Amino acid sequence: MEIMRLLFIFLSSLLLSSVSVSASSYVPAIFTFGDSIFDAGNNRFNKNCSAQADFPPYGSSFFHHPTGRFTNGRTVADFISQFVGIGFQKPYLEAYAEVVNGSQKNYPSNGINFASAGSGILQETNKHLGVISMQEQVQQFEKLVLQNQIDRNLIQKSLFLFESGSNDIFNYFAPSTRPTTLDPDSYVQSMLTEVSRFFNSIYNLGARRIAMFNLGPVGCVPARALLRGAPINRCFGKMNVMVKKYNMGLETMLKDYPRVYRPTVVAYGAVYKIVQELRSVPNQYGFTEVSAACCGAGTLGGMQQCGKDGYKICKNPNEFLFWDSFHPTEHAYEFISKALWAGGTTRIRPVNLMTLANITSN
Ligand SMILES: *[C@@H]1O[C@H](CO)[C@@H](O)[C@H](O)[C@H]1NC(C)=O
Ligand SMILES: *[C@@H]1O[C@H](CO)[C@@H](O)[C@H](O)[C@H]1NC(C)=O
Ligand SMILES: *[C@@H]1O[C@H](CO)[C@@H](O)[C@H](O)[C@H]1NC(C)=O
Repeated sequence: MEIMRLLFIFLSSLLLSSVSVSASSYVPAIFTFGDSIFDAGNNRFNKNCSAQADFPPYGSSFFHHPTGRFTNGRTVADFISQFVGIGFQKPYLEAYAEVVNGSQKNYPSNGINFASAGSGILQETNKHLGVISMQEQVQQFEKLVLQNQIDRNLIQKSLFLFESGSNDIFNYFAPSTRPTTLDPDSYVQSMLTEVSRFFNSIYNLGARRIAMFNLGPVGCVPARALLRGAPINRCFGKMNVMVKKYNMGLETMLKDYPRVYRPTVVAYGAVYKIVQELRSVPNQYGFTEVSAACCGAGTLGGMQQCGKDGYKICKNPNEFLFWDSFHPTEHAYEFISKALWAGGTTRIRPVNLMTLANITSN
């Protein structure tokens, strides 16, 4: 079965490459779930939430004003939208507010961004900050589908993007937010169980083209300077070991899915590998600094959030891997997005996003 599927995917991509098709006729919409790697500003519309990036200099490079995105410009979800050839998705809470106050009649036809910065795979992660958990994100989507606010045909053709887990693993090492007494393996297992529930939910709501991204080297973020026991002159190895466990578990789990959930095409994006490539030969990609944050304060620029009292900012964000204490710059996101869109199987497998966007799953 597996071989037949792969053969089918291979043949479809050969066929499609010989026929000239516009990408936008294949993927009309993108639905995005996860954390700050994707968040287009949901938290900004959630006044209860204290995880915010709605102040300068966030947004200074592309939008030229803060949008709620936790970077200087576009996120991975934005770049992928551009590659697909559709407009950026609105944050769900913005679209919701517009429909409720009557300024828009319908929800957008190019998809919706449900991601919430600071959220994790586990429901409890950063709950005290008022973030929208992944489980709530799915409920928001489910409600729209059940109320027929989103066309089912549209959902079938749409691209679904998922990335979460960095906050769960970072918090595991932070005494103040440590969510659990579970040992690392059980903790990772509980994350994977939630991811499988997530997948099952969106499949049942009609998702058929699904890209699930693994986690980057979270142990390398400048914010590790806040953690007792984390080294400064190199990445936090213990944290990266846990990240790799999650990543391996995710890939193993997803391998079975095209057989179990039919018909679907599922791509596994190896973000960890992509970021490590960038870190190993930074010059080749135009980076001069891959450890410290461009914007922040204290050790590695990781002790305080960018834009808060006393922060410093670098001259050229494009030369930095990290924009703030947790998040990559737009330039790094662009590199990651291109690798996911058109990269080979070391970066995303069994198909890249460009192929996922062109082939039909049924
Ligand atoms: C898929 O779509 C992209 C964007 O329109 C196009 O460049 C590419 O050639 C298409 N075909 C395949 C097989 O990826
Ligand atoms: C904010 O919190 C209050 C009280 O917990 C809740 O009733 C309300 O729905 C929340 N608002 C948003 C936008 O999440
Ligand atoms: C409706 O809500 C949106 C999003 O919050 C806001 O930008 C817009 O100004 C509101 N329009 C009206 C008529 O209240």
